[in-house]
Amino acid sequence: MCEYFRNKNIVLYNDNCLNRKLFNQEFIDLIVTSPPYNVGIEYNSNDDTITYGDYLEFSRQWLENCYEWSNDQARLCLNIPLDKNKGGSNSVGADLTKIAQLCGWKYKSTIIWNEGNISRRTAWGSWKSASAPVVIAPVELIVVLYKGSWKKTKGSLKSDISRDEFMAWTNGVWTFNGESKKRIGHPAPFPKELPYRCIKMFSYEGDIVFDPFAGSGTTLLVAEKINRVGIGVELDSSYCELAKNRITKENGQLLNL
Ligand SMILES: C[S@@+](CC[C@H](N)C(=O)[O-])C[C@H]1O[C@@H](n2cnc3c(N)ncnc32)[C@H](O)[C@@H]1O
Repeated sequence: MCEYFRNKNIVLYNDNCLNRKLFNQEFIDLIVTSPPYNVGIEYNSNDDTITYGDYLEFSRQWLENCYEWSNDQARLCLNIPLDKNKGGSNSVGADLTKIAQLCGWKYKSTIIWNEGNISRRTAWGSWKSASAPVVIAPVELIVVLYKGSWKKTKGSLKSDISRDEFMAWTNGVWTFNGESKKRIGHPAPFPKELPYRCIKMFSYEGDIVFDPFAGSGTTLLVAEKINRVGIGVELDSSYCELAKNRITKENGQLLNL
């Protein structure tokens, strides 16, 4: 296992989350993650153009590993596309939700993330014709699953969510903008708002928050900021370096132990 950096509240591993032997204990309280979507994004270290069958098998492997590494009562917030229309239509959201359940995860609910992204509207299929029109919903999903029981009786039992946040976020349509790739320097970062809401809603202070696809470190960065412990795995060493620099800059000096 290749530890890239650590401070008091964060550990990032430069490794492959498909490797079951990465961890040999149950330690996760909450997972907030966005896996590769297999939509042809140019990542440094993984091919994002594999067949849909291979993609489903890849999804099964990491969802199963995460289940094994999770504590009883752990939650999983899975940010995935609703569907995919490039290179054939696939019901990604439905398929990954089913695979997660086959791995043992229990289904709780689905949050619709309305990114307000209308720039993708270029593929109409057949223009103004019933011949082969294409409907695209400019939203993503955050599928909420859990291990064991939904009721959370372990941990500090300290919640830090305000009344207004709770009332707003329990409405399962969330509207906030996506993050700029350019600004962050990563091909597919999510905005801090996404882990911020998930962590505050679904974990207690002091809980261990895990991201198996840490990328630029957004989940870890936010977890530390709001008094959780962040553990991440990222395959690509340059994204690990990016995450380290981002966390150092935004959260203060790292103690390189
Ligand atoms: C959608 S991005 C995650 C972005 C992250 N949420 C952020 O805000 O920066 C997916 C990440 O998974 C990484 N990745 C792909 N395959 C992986 C694997 N098998 N194990 C660990 N990381 C992997 C990619 O390098 C990429 O950084």
